[in-house]
Amino acid sequence: MNVIAREAEHLLPVYAQMDLEPIRAEGPWIHTADGRKILDFYGGHAVAALGYGHPRLVETLNRQAQLLMFQSNAVALEVRARAAQRLAEFAPAGLTHAFFVNSGAEANENALRMACKATGRARVVALEHGFHGRTAAAAAVTWGAEKWYGFPQRPFEVVFVSREDPDALRTAVDERTAAVILEPVQGVAGAYDVPLEVLKAARAACDAAGAWLISDEVQSGMGRSGYAFAIERAGVTPDILTMAKSLGGGFPVGALITRPEIAATQQVGDLGTTFGGGPLACAIVETVIDVIEREQLVQRVARLSQRIRETCIVGPVTAIQGAGFLLGLRTSRPARDINRELLARDIMAGGSADPHIVRLLPPYILDDSHVVQLATALKEIAA
Ligand SMILES: Cc1ncc(COP(=O)(O)O)c(C=O)c1O
Repeated sequence: MNVIAREAEHLLPVYAQMDLEPIRAEGPWIHTADGRKILDFYGGHAVAALGYGHPRLVETLNRQAQLLMFQSNAVALEVRARAAQRLAEFAPAGLTHAFFVNSGAEANENALRMACKATGRARVVALEHGFHGRTAAAAAVTWGAEKWYGFPQRPFEVVFVSREDPDALRTAVDERTAAVILEPVQGVAGAYDVPLEVLKAARAACDAAGAWLISDEVQSGMGRSGYAFAIERAGVTPDILTMAKSLGGGFPVGALITRPEIAATQQVGDLGTTFGGGPLACAIVETVIDVIEREQLVQRVARLSQRIRETCIVGPVTAIQGAGFLLGLRTSRPARDINRELLARDIMAGGSADPHIVRLLPPYILDDSHVVQLATALKEIAA
């Protein structure tokens, strides 16, 4: 029986799965049960920022597991203090206080809760085509969630506006608005880079209305955009920035980070989590940031992203959008077919909500030879 059938015996059948079985991985390479070696341009949904088996991450996990595997937020931990300090230093200037959680949706859920509570308002403005997660509040601001939302009602009123039109934002945000939430580069939508004027308009509209700007960088953050965080491209500082995925390099961890003035309003009991901020996750966060900085991976992402843009508009690829290692290859034929043909050439890429976008979310540790391999494979595929 193959592994897909084995899973189906005792797991809910909620995922469309690729026809391969990874058994181990190192660097950007995934080895499968049938002996294939696949170059990973998908990073497990943008998670494997440092590739697989990075010696520093493995060493950190081993060391921290032996030292102290878990303690909750009921006690202060040196490793948690260090992780928060590193994150504050890595984050845009002015964002100084973090709250650790376990996933991207949980980070957004808490950011939205904080905004509604602090402003006393019950309306959130979100961008069309945005994705923010599957929990009650995060899914409420996710475009198209009607299809799968599931809950009888949303926790607040949601207004969706065009992702292209700064004026639409200016009009939508008023004294009833608690927050604007947006992804500066929309991931699930197909690596769509929201125009900088829209990001600037969001900041200005929030300032004018006394609303909060929440930058969801669960996918675009932690260096993936070729900047530490994608919103920095617009010179805009959000009130809250959320992150997950690459933050843990494969270990489940999410976080939000905010301004000191907001942090000062938070009181004991306002937020909480059992696992968030555990010592394993915090040790990993500290190491991920340390590796990104020491190995100059943000610069590497920016340079190799440019190489992809220069060399990969070939074969079925007609244009490239996105930023850094969150790229969308626009394809003349359905992306699903291109991905199948890439996989036949031992390259894994991803899809998106746009049926003509192949999404690339590779590990930051790629080198030029991997980009050549991608370009060569694309050239072989019919336009
Ligand atoms: C931009 C964005 N926000 C939030 C989420 C939800 O994150 P998680 O699946 O960790 O809850 C995702 C996941 O793809 C995402 O891309």
